[in-house]
Amino acid sequence: MSVIVSGIQPTGIKHLGNYFGAIQQHLELQESGDDCYFFIADYHALTSVNDPDELDRSRTELARTYLALGLDTDKAHIFRQSDVPEVTELAWLLATVTGMGLLQRAHSYKDKVAKGLTPNVGLFTYPVLMAADILAYGGTTIPVGSDQIQHVEMAQDMAQSFNARYGEVFVRPEPRLTTHAGARVVGLDGGKMSTSYGNTIPIFAEGKELKKLIASIKTDSVELGQPLSRDSPLFDLLMLFSRPSDPICDSGDKLITEAFATGRWEGEPFGYGHAKDLLHKCIEDHFRYPRKKAAELTEIEVETALFQGAFRAKARAKETLTKARHAVGLRQ
Ligand code: ADP
Ligand code: TRP
Repeated sequence: MSVIVSGIQPTGIKHLGNYFGAIQQHLELQESGDDCYFFIADYHALTSVNDPDELDRSRTELARTYLALGLDTDKAHIFRQSDVPEVTELAWLLATVTGMGLLQRAHSYKDKVAKGLTPNVGLFTYPVLMAADILAYGGTTIPVGSDQIQHVEMAQDMAQSFNARYGEVFVRPEPRLTTHAGARVVGLDGGKMSTSYGNTIPIFAEGKELKKLIASIKTDSVELGQPLSRDSPLFDLLMLFSRPSDPICDSGDKLITEAFATGRWEGEPFGYGHAKDLLHKCIEDHFRYPRKKAAELTEIEVETALFQGAFRAKARAKETLTKARHAVGLRQ
């Protein structure tokens, strides 16, 4: 059986990029019968956020979002990273087998520094904590976006260095990349959808807010009935809702491809305005039930799910930590 481990930072309103690139994959994986650990990476968020109320609120919000979207606590463990402080101790043990050079090569760290951010030590050692998350639960399969692959490879290196020095304690984790269209969801401006670019469509956007966001997508001007550009973010966004497994938009991707190629939909003229209306309908339909569920879930239900998840995760992390402590000579 595989052990699937993944984390997502809580801050920032979760958007379609997070959904198609990460959350949807987690929800599919919970059906595999494997042992799944999905956690809210609040320790990691602290490397870049320093608003206590926002951090606290966003953690519950993200748990609520997962549960509303279909996370089933009988099939997967969901919990706050910080409810398992064992990972921080494990991170220390891993730090002692990690060369400075390895961390200095981290793209994500270098990018942030290049953008002018003054790094704290937590940001520099971010990959060590991430390795501890993965190794604590014996993660074998780590679903991540392409920006996180290097971090998983670093976890492989740390596991290997530790095992070479102290004996076999850690299992080698393998990254699992999203390969379908959700691997790089485009934002309203055609670039990668990201909170930091202000080009997102929140998962639970609806009504006027959603209409306004979709209306802001720039399009070229073609006469109604003429082919539409597939370079438009509208095309990519619509395609996300037309996978065969996706029941919402019964149109299917062939119909969308054809509609863009011909400027016609079932014989009728199809312009950018129609494409925008269709996207609006797809998003509202796809998230209608989860949106309702998110509003209905009580605080107690969310907390119970997190408590259950943390209980199981803690037991597993404790076991690993005990082995690691013993291996290095901390034996009392
Ligand atoms: P953001 O860029 O909005 O800050 P994060 O970096 O916190 O998002 O990403 C959280 C998760 O969502 C990661 O697994 C990441 O790979 C995924 N993700 C974020 N944006 C996208 C996107 N545009 N396309 C695909 N996956 C994405
Ligand atoms: N660094 C990941 C991100 O920002 C979140 C994360 C923390 C994670 N720990 C992890 C992902 C362990 C996978 C496994 O997206």
